[in-house]
Amino acid sequence: MLQTNSTINHRQPGPPCIFVIFGASGDLTKRKLIPALFNLRCVGLLPSKFAVIGVAITQGNDASFRDQMSQDIKQFATHPVDETEWNQFISSCFYISGDFNDAAVFTALKEKMEEVRTAQQIPGGNAVFNLAVTPTLFGTVAAKLGEAGLLNETPDGYRRVIIEKPFGRDLDSARQLNRDLHHCLDESQIYRIDHYLGKETVQNIMVFRFANMIFEPNWNRRYVDSVQITVAESLGVENRGGYLDHYGVLRDMLQNHMLSVLSLIAMEPPGSISGDAVRNEKVKVLDAIRPMEPEEVIENAVRGQYGAGVIDGQPVPAYRSEPSVSPTSNTETFAAVRLYVENWRWADVPFYLRTGKRLAKHLTQVVIRFKRTPLMLFGEKAHSEAGPNALILNIQPEESITIMIRAKRPGPAIVVDTIPLDFDYNEFGKQSPATGYETLLHDCMIGDMTLFHREDSVDASWRIVSPILDVWGALPPRDFPDYEAGSWGPAAADKLLARDGRAWENPA
Ligand code: BG6
Repeated sequence: MLQTNSTINHRQPGPPCIFVIFGASGDLTKRKLIPALFNLRCVGLLPSKFAVIGVAITQGNDASFRDQMSQDIKQFATHPVDETEWNQFISSCFYISGDFNDAAVFTALKEKMEEVRTAQQIPGGNAVFNLAVTPTLFGTVAAKLGEAGLLNETPDGYRRVIIEKPFGRDLDSARQLNRDLHHCLDESQIYRIDHYLGKETVQNIMVFRFANMIFEPNWNRRYVDSVQITVAESLGVENRGGYLDHYGVLRDMLQNHMLSVLSLIAMEPPGSISGDAVRNEKVKVLDAIRPMEPEEVIENAVRGQYGAGVIDGQPVPAYRSEPSVSPTSNTETFAAVRLYVENWRWADVPFYLRTGKRLAKHLTQVVIRFKRTPLMLFGEKAHSEAGPNALILNIQPEESITIMIRAKRPGPAIVVDTIPLDFDYNEFGKQSPATGYETLLHDCMIGDMTLFHREDSVDASWRIVSPILDVWGALPPRDFPDYEAGSWGPAAADKLLARDGRAWENPA
């Protein structure tokens, strides 16, 4: 049965299905997809009748694929592997090899799917095609799946395609990709993964905002002074120098993960939590962010690139000396922007977003800073409109929510101080460690699109970053590298906020 949102139950496994992974010999498969599917099995959320078919160019067969995955799971499982569970899981994994440009592999896949369906007694025609391949192949693989008749849905068979960012490299290529996909797929069949939306605290933003009454009245320009979203990484480029040098962090992080988090923070309450109700509200936020004029880019956006420095006491090389990075690269490894959501709720409230590699700390957090009280009765001095109250959503590595409030210090005199009220996820209910893909893969199998990007939100977020990319492309930076590895980024990022009488909320 095709599912509708009203029939979705997140605590149940989806209906029987075959999960096809293109790029089965690649990194994503062994690090994330197989461990996540296995984790779903361990918590009873894989369909009772289920099989994986891996497809890749690497020569191999069912046995070699099973051997390889059984080796890899030892390294990438997120908790100790139960042998019996694993043996049952891996016995439902199959493999075919072939070149994705060759129609023969799709004919072979069709036959393999039939064979597996019969052998494993998987009723119906449900199938997920996870394209864990380089993005330049998304269009080709989808087209070939379509030509082979593998994307045709029937009343007892959904056909869904999962792709993961980058969804294009700019507005034009993103639109081209959407056109290519729409040649053979309906939008309702396309699951665009953003792994940030699988993170626990990110998912909790909606619950926090819309299941509590106490925050909503304050959640607007009347009470909020500013919002900061930081995604700081202490890692450098690792083994992805070539990719990152071609994309830069504005495209890699801000265009997708960060704008997605921003839209969850700023959206209006949806009428329901079904896929389109939420996604309609999210896209309205992005549409309310007016693309900048070139002169506004200079004022509102900062880029940077790291030089050599020290992280955790270890010397680390400059970006330009990293493997697969051009020694004269002008690609940004840091980006900060000031954005305005131009609607009645948020007019004039700055949203400051920053992300960077090789920063002082690994930290993803959202800080909502509230305004000060109109009258300061306890002798405090007003330095700006911002007050001591803040709501801090820590997304990683700690998962917590903190509210900063003013309180009187115990004692005879009235001494007022700012104290944190903390909520720590680990204390609330420790989950066994996961890959972050479990929720998203399960959602795809049960047909819940809420956490996946829709075509219009991809388009809207490219519209926001495009003018910045254009100006940066036209004016090569003259001062790269401009921040030391292990710092909080270039001085220009501090100035961006200092001009507004604010500062980045850097943890100690
Ligand atoms: C990916 C980016 O989407 O997210 C990487 O391509 C980045 O460059 C990664 O390192 C960060 O993800 P996480 O979950 O470790 O914060």
